[in-house]
Amino acid sequence: MIAAAERFFAVCPRGLEALLAQELTALGAQACTPQAGGVAFAGTLETGYAANLHSRLASRVLREVCQAPCANEDDLYAAAHAVAWERWFDARQTLRVDVTLAGSQRSNAGFLTLRVKDAIVDRLRARTGARPCIDRARPDVRVFAHLDGRVAYLYLDLSGEALFKRGWRADKAEAPLKENLAAGLLALAGWDPSQPLLDPFCGSGTIALEAAAIAARRAPGLQRRFAFERLRDFDAACWQQLLAQAQEQAQHAAGAAVKIAASDAAPRAIETARRNASLAGFEPWLADGRLQFAVADARTVAPPAAAGLIVTNPPYGVQSQPGDSDLPTLMRQFAAHLKRHFGGWTAWLLSADLDLPKHMRLRETRRIVLFNGPLACRLFRFELRAGSYRRAVAGARLS
Ligand SMILES: C[S@@+](CC[C@H](N)C(=O)[O-])C[C@H]1O[C@@H](n2cnc3c(N)ncnc32)[C@H](O)[C@@H]1O
Repeated sequence: MIAAAERFFAVCPRGLEALLAQELTALGAQACTPQAGGVAFAGTLETGYAANLHSRLASRVLREVCQAPCANEDDLYAAAHAVAWERWFDARQTLRVDVTLAGSQRSNAGFLTLRVKDAIVDRLRARTGARPCIDRARPDVRVFAHLDGRVAYLYLDLSGEALFKRGWRADKAEAPLKENLAAGLLALAGWDPSQPLLDPFCGSGTIALEAAAIAARRAPGLQRRFAFERLRDFDAACWQQLLAQAQEQAQHAAGAAVKIAASDAAPRAIETARRNASLAGFEPWLADGRLQFAVADARTVAPPAAAGLIVTNPPYGVQSQPGDSDLPTLMRQFAAHLKRHFGGWTAWLLSADLDLPKHMRLRETRRIVLFNGPLACRLFRFELRAGSYRRAVAGARLS
């Protein structure tokens, strides 16, 4: 039984912090405090495991092992040397250290990384007589140090591979969205499985597959391993219990009624999306039509229902189809199709192009700032009112 209160930090794409705090609270986390790029929270080690298994929005979950005043690199070395790392790993495991600096701090992150690494290695050598090897590519253990003004925070990584890697992706189509950002778009759009969903620029199917996993109440971490499984204090019984509960939850929802349609103009993207769907275990959903992938041009795609949500990230930046029209023209034609055939739908489009509403000749009813990696984007909401196209045409004829 794990009882002690621990401190954690869950990292997420910028713009999703408030939603992540809600998600973690629902998972039993306490004192959730959104900060730029993540959420600090408290809980037991079991809460940390559950956050890794169930969070759709986090990129990584870290366990705080030290918080100390830090005016210079000697303070940082002393803080890192005082941590009982031998509780969690030993010299047989490979190590990687990363240092991040808040805001406009100008210190040399490379040098500070070396100081933290030296402190850990010196401590383990003194205690165990051996020193761990550094492996930046595939480390067994990762330590993060974050310097915020005059405070140093040291964290042990519980996740390993980033959490957006759900363990089912075959190969990448053009510019795939990260799964946790796709989950964030669905959450911001307020999608729930009772609403028909369409992604008409689906690429490798990330948004549709994330929606399917939500409808199937399938924990995003069920198909992968985590760094905490390699730590010396790993509580296997607690983890097996969490896994069993997650599996039971998914079994109960296996028959969920849902309509998720996704399409793309590129046949190879649809092949990849279907392959991803079967790797993720959604073959039966493809067979009975709950999840549909089709080759279609977004400018002619048929609505899969009378009303519902479009959640999509259309191409931007580069021309995506050889011989295709330029992007403003593509988006204008797509918008004309929406106005004509999707009355009653609401469309949410993620784009780095701030002029998207202008190209579409539509006024957005919401505009949310989100980051796709380092790329500042906007999530635009457009309400497509039934009959608006006919009214617009009739108005144009009268004038
Ligand atoms: C930014 S990517 C979408 C990536 C996707 N969200 C994923 O996670 O893989 C844009 C997609 O739009 C598709 N596309 C470009 N022009 C299109 C059109 N006229 N109709 C439908 N799809 C189109 C491209 O093939 C590409 O897969």
